[in-house]
Amino acid sequence: MTVTPTAPLSQTALLIELEPVVAGNLDRHLRAAKEWFPHEYVPWGEGRTFDGILDGEAWQPEDSIVPEVARTALVVNLLTEDNLPSYHHQIATLFGRDGAWGTWVHRWTAEEGRHGTAIRDYLTVTRAVDPVALERARMTHMSAGYDNPHDDEVLHSLAYVSFQELATRISHRNTGRVTGDPRCEQLLARIAADENLHMVFYRNLLGAAFELAPSQAMRAVADVVADFQMPGNGIEGFARKSVAIALAGIYDLRQHRDDVLMPVLRQWDVWNVTGLDADGEAAREELAAQLDGLDRAAARFEEKRDARLARLARA
Ligand SMILES: [Fe+2]
Ligand SMILES: [Fe+2]
Repeated sequence: MTVTPTAPLSQTALLIELEPVVAGNLDRHLRAAKEWFPHEYVPWGEGRTFDGILDGEAWQPEDSIVPEVARTALVVNLLTEDNLPSYHHQIATLFGRDGAWGTWVHRWTAEEGRHGTAIRDYLTVTRAVDPVALERARMTHMSAGYDNPHDDEVLHSLAYVSFQELATRISHRNTGRVTGDPRCEQLLARIAADENLHMVFYRNLLGAAFELAPSQAMRAVADVVADFQMPGNGIEGFARKSVAIALAGIYDLRQHRDDVLMPVLRQWDVWNVTGLDADGEAAREELAAQLDGLDRAAARFEEKRDARLARLARA
């Protein structure tokens, strides 16, 4: 079917046109989401009182059975969840608080809040990370807040969260594996299942936008892929931390391209979208070039990582 390009839709028109899709996907989400309780995932009996007010034992690195890189990833993941008020503000401002959009925004926020609670309780009780450093990092990170370059554009925001929720899912899953702690892995797998449902919600919405306004949707996707940054990128020392996380195979460029971007792009069938105007076509070409560039960068990183592993094995 060939669709004739039409004039771009305003942000308000996009929100109104997509509202029925939000309502349908909200119903689907509520049917699919499983109720779960953070407290059931935490081995409370292993907890010990800390030093300070209650005069218990100070945290020391030997308390943690979790490898250093897993600790780094756990802290990055938790700080990302912690910044929720800032994300909530962004999406509530953009999507509004009325109707199905508003119901979704609140539901999504409540689910993300559960993630932060569960991870923090787990890390504190099992003494997996330094609680003083964690609290200071939380204060610094949340004080900076969060904004993204496209926070006033509906389709850009939908494209961003489609990728970001899948990225978070993969990162939680792989972090769990690297902890070497089956209980932590179990908790992070539970959280990852939520992130997957979030991804499906946003992906379906942008999928509907591709039918409604294909050129605008394609432009949004190309722009977001070009400057994609994880929401934790404001965390102190993020560059160093993300290299450690990539070296450990928790989240790297290859996974970003092949396991996050590509499956979502395939669902939208971006290469076969019809009815694009000149800018839509240009955006699709930019997207293809971005993916090629990412492929080369991922290959370079993998080469370096393999060489480093070989060096370490010889040492
Ligand atoms: Fe989350
Ligand atoms: Fe999520």
